Amino acid sequence: MMGDCNGQDKRDFTSSELGTKEYWDEVYKLELENYNESKDIGEIWFGENCQASVIRWIKNCEKIKKDSAIVDLGCGNGALLIELARQGFSCLTGFDYSENAITFAKTISAEENFNNIIFEVGDILNEESCLAFNQKYQVCHDKGTYDAISLMSDNFKPLQMSYIKVVKKILNEGGFFIITSCNWTKDQLLEQFSNDFHFNEVIPTSTFQFGGSTGSKYTTLVLIK
Ligand SMILES: C[S@@+](CC[C@H](N)C(=O)[O-])C[C@H]1O[C@@H](n2cnc3c(N)ncnc32)[C@H](O)[C@@H]1O
Repeated sequence: MMGDCNGQDKRDFTSSELGTKEYWDEVYKLELENYNESKDIGEIWFGENCQASVIRWIKNCEKIKKDSAIVDLGCGNGALLIELARQGFSCLTGFDYSENAITFAKTISAEENFNNIIFEVGDILNEESCLAFNQKYQVCHDKGTYDAISLMSDNFKPLQMSYIKVVKKILNEGGFFIITSCNWTKDQLLEQFSNDFHFNEVIPTSTFQFGGSTGSKYTTLVLIK
């Protein structure tokens, strides 16, 4: 799981600093400083293969057009959206509750001349916190954000409900919710989301390296509203 990456079946992890905004603010502050020196965009969560698999799936999906609205929930450095822009997608939005993440994402996208991606500060657990929550999207994408939220508190249920409420609100009827997690198994994710979304498919996964440990697993699911 994120934090120790064992991928167990039950929730046997507890809240941790990865569930705090302070942690992510510090991560992205350091990554921005590093980027300004070396142009290194920092961590691609779950690795480049994971990001590439999701982008391939989006490109191959007949119900997603190049101008379909796509939002990245907790976009971090914005790498996935910048890659989608590079591949011709034109209606892209990312939000993150870390102001430093948004500054970082805006810096990279400006440097690469992708100035039409909307990046906003917003907390997915607070539906009033972001203009992006007033729009509808054909795709809601989450890579590692639900995982981070699940580390906020051992009393996860209310957080889960707030998260689902916003995703349901902003996703089109028939739209795609693509989620990658290393804290929850496929079955756990299906159990948590099955009241509100139906299962479409699993995007095939591979192993990735995290914190020096190899062989860790993640799951990428496509769900439909
Ligand atoms: C593991 S990182 C993944 C970042 C990005 N999705 C990626 O794949 O590179 C988790 C991200 O979730 C963001 N995050 C955590 N809780 C959030 C919340 N309640 N609302 C919005 N973003 C949140 C963090 O700031 C961080 O950028």
